Amino acid sequence: MTARLIAWLDERLGLSGFYKNVLDRKVPKVNWAFTLGSASLFLVITQAVTGVFLTAYYIPHPDQAYDSINYIMNDVAFGWLIRGIHHWGASLLVVTVFLHMLRTFIYGSYKYPREITWVTGVLLLLVTLGMGFTGYLLPWNQRSYWATTVATSITETVPLIGPLINQVLRGGEDLSTLTLARFFSAHIWMFPAALIGILGVHIYLVIRLGISHIPSEDE
Ligand code: HEM
Repeated sequence: MTARLIAWLDERLGLSGFYKNVLDRKVPKVNWAFTLGSASLFLVITQAVTGVFLTAYYIPHPDQAYDSINYIMNDVAFGWLIRGIHHWGASLLVVTVFLHMLRTFIYGSYKYPREITWVTGVLLLLVTLGMGFTGYLLPWNQRSYWATTVATSITETVPLIGPLINQVLRGGEDLSTLTLARFFSAHIWMFPAALIGILGVHIYLVIRLGISHIPSEDE
């Protein structure tokens, strides 16, 4: 019965082709450093799932953001766990993405034909940092408020357009309700949308080109 159901679905969805090309690919003999991309992918998914749960209770308004985080931590069932995973996962993600980049650099995996995999990787690093930067403000506590004040004022040092960048980021002269709304929107909509698109290309290329091997001495 199960076999017939699988055969029925396979005929319509091409599951065996997907299995053969995506999950059952041949990989060269590599080492643990080659798992860092998958570790990053796992963390991205964890961040997405825990982040969605957090939006059920978090309120992106200066009067309520701090209290809503306190509520998540103390009153919501397993809220401390979900927020803890999201909080520490963010730092861990930056570390694993950076180590993954280092691995692909050290083994020369960015060379022909994987140049576009590398370029999409650089964009992914920027988006990951952007998610971290915008997420940091959301608890709206003293640390996040002043860290964002300092970080956004650094943009003022850019020649000519510096003050404009600062204004666009803050939505005015100082940090306000608008800044929080802007950062929240970037954190849950703009950066994730960019991440999904770029990650799709990145993973497609990994599947299409196959994983690189460890270069031998005569290469
Ligand atoms: C959210 C961030 C990222 C995710 C989820 C991700 C995911 C992955 C995965 C799953 C692989 C295949 C497994 C592996 O080689 O470890 C891979 C390969 C690759 N990634 Fe990333 N990646 C990210 C960021 C980056 C960055 C920042 C760079 C470099 C700037 C990069 C460059 C590459 C390259 C060149 C490959 C091909 C490796 C090979 O064929 O040996 N990636 N990535």
